[in-house]
Amino acid sequence: MGEWGSCPVYTGRLRKKASVRPETRREWQAIRLPVGNSAPITRRDLFALTFGYLPLAAQPADQPDALSLAEARPVLDDFSAELPAGLSGDPLTAASWQEWATAHDREIRSRLQRGDADSIVNLLLFGTSFTAQPRCTIQQVEAAGGDAEAASQLIRARVRDFAAAVARPGTNERLLFAAGWLHEQGADPVGPAAASRIATVLLENTLRVVREQQEYNRAIAEAKQKEDAAHLFIERSSLYRGRGLSLDTSFRPNYGIERSLAEMQSAGLLRQVHRAAVLGPGLDFTDKRSGYDFYPVQTLQPFALVDSLRRLRLADSGGPAVAILDLSGRVLRHVRRAVDQARAGSAYTVQLALDRDTQWRPATVDYWRRSCAEIGTEIEPLRPPPGAAVRMRAVRIRPDVVRLLEPFDLEIVIQHLRLPDERRFDLVVATNILVYYSPFEQALALQNLAAMLRPGGVLLSNNVLPEVPGVPMHPAGATSVAYSNDPDDGDHMLWYRRV
Ligand SMILES: C[S@@+](CC[C@H](N)C(=O)[O-])C[C@H]1O[C@@H](n2cnc3c(N)ncnc32)[C@H](O)[C@@H]1O
Repeated sequence: MGEWGSCPVYTGRLRKKASVRPETRREWQAIRLPVGNSAPITRRDLFALTFGYLPLAAQPADQPDALSLAEARPVLDDFSAELPAGLSGDPLTAASWQEWATAHDREIRSRLQRGDADSIVNLLLFGTSFTAQPRCTIQQVEAAGGDAEAASQLIRARVRDFAAAVARPGTNERLLFAAGWLHEQGADPVGPAAASRIATVLLENTLRVVREQQEYNRAIAEAKQKEDAAHLFIERSSLYRGRGLSLDTSFRPNYGIERSLAEMQSAGLLRQVHRAAVLGPGLDFTDKRSGYDFYPVQTLQPFALVDSLRRLRLADSGGPAVAILDLSGRVLRHVRRAVDQARAGSAYTVQLALDRDTQWRPATVDYWRRSCAEIGTEIEPLRPPPGAAVRMRAVRIRPDVVRLLEPFDLEIVIQHLRLPDERRFDLVVATNILVYYSPFEQALALQNLAAMLRPGGVLLSNNVLPEVPGVPMHPAGATSVAYSNDPDDGDHMLWYRRV
C-alpha cells in the first residue's frame, strides 16, 4: 500500500461506522428470492456444481430488478438535503419512486450516445486504420485553445481520410460503427455532400470533447490547490458525473485489481472465489489514453480477472463463473458473441498493447508480460502500423474460459440481479464506472451491489464511495498502485465488504 500517494478510505463524506438500522435489516431479510431451476442440468453442470461454479447461463431466475422504495430508503434518508429534482417534493410513494427510477434509468442509458460520440472522436484522432496521418492528441487539439479554425486545420487531413473510409467501411467494425453513428447524426456517409457534413459533425464533437477535458483539468487543478489529497480523491471519484458513458478500457486497472486481490488474500479477506461479477467491463475500441485501432475491438477485464484469480489460487482451475453486468448493448453483444463462439469451440484472442513512450513501473511491465498466461496460449501478436511506439503480446484464450462468462443487461444505479443466497457473488469488480455518477447515485449503486454480494463478499472499486447508514457495505482497506512514473497514472483500489 501507499505506493501511489495517500489513500483516503475513511474521509470526507464517509462514515467510519455505518450501522445497519434494524428496520433496514428487516427490509433486507424480506426480499423475496426467486428459486428453482427449470433448465435441464447436464453432466457437465453437475461436475461444475460439485466444484461450486455452475455457469450462470443455466439459471433463468437471475433477473434484473429495480431497487424498491424500501431498499432505496436508507439512501434517500441520508441524502435528504441533496436529493435530485423529482425526489425532493411530496413524500414518496412506491409508485412515485418507481416512476422516478424508471425515468432515471432511461436518462442514464441515454448517456451512452454521448459516450459513443467520444469514442468516434478518439478514433478520429488516434486511429491508423483509415489514414497515414500521424496520430493527434487531445492535448494538441487543446493547444489550439478551443479555436475552431485552428483545430480544424490540425485535424483536416484526418477528417478527410475518415470521411472517405466511412463511405466504404468494408468489414472494419470500428468504421462500420462510425458510419452508423454518422448516419444517426444526419451525416449519411454516402449521401450528397457527405464529406462536408461529416467534417462539421466531427469538428463539433472534437471541440466538445476538448472543452469537456479542459473543464475536468480545471476542476482537478482547483481541487489540488484548495484541498488535501483525500478531498482530491473524493472530487475525482465523481468527476465524470455529467459526461457521456464511455466504454474505454485498457490493461492498466487489471494490474491494480491483481495487486488488490493479492493484498486482500494476505489480509484474509478473500479466500475462494466461486462466483464473481465484472461491472462494466468496457470495450477496447480506441482507448482515450493509448488509442489503437489496428487490432479487433476486444474486452479485457473479465479475462484478466479469471487469469489473476487462478494465478493467485483464489479460484480453482475450472472457475470462477463470471457475470458480466453492463448497460451497453455493444458490450453485451460482444460478450454474447464471444461466448456463443466459444460454445462452438472457438478461442478468443486478446491483443495486449504496452506503449513504448510511457515510463512504466517495472511491476506493471511484469504484469503485462504474464497477463492472461494462465488461461490461454501465447501467440504472435498483430503487427503495429509503422510509427506506432507500442510493444505487443497476444494470448488466445481457451473456449472453456470464455464460456465462464454470462452477460446481463443491468444498469447498476437502479437495478440489481435478484439472486438466491447460494448464487450471490464472492467478488464484484467495478473500475472506471462509478466515477460517472454523483455520490447519491453511487450510494444507490452500492445498495444494488450489496444485494448481489454474499455476506463477507467484496467489492473492488477505484473510486471512493459514500458510506451510508443502512447500506451494508463497509470500507475494508485499499491498495494503491502506480502504473508509470507519471504521478497521475495510478489507482487507489478500495475494498468494500458486504456485512
Ligand atoms: C469506462 S468503461 C470501464 C471499463 C473497465 N471496467 C476498465 O476499468 O477499464 C465503463 C463501463 O461501465 C459500463 N457502465 C457505465 N455505467 C453503467 C451503469 N450504470 N450500469 C452498468 N454498466 C455501466 C459501460 O457500458 C462500460 O462498459
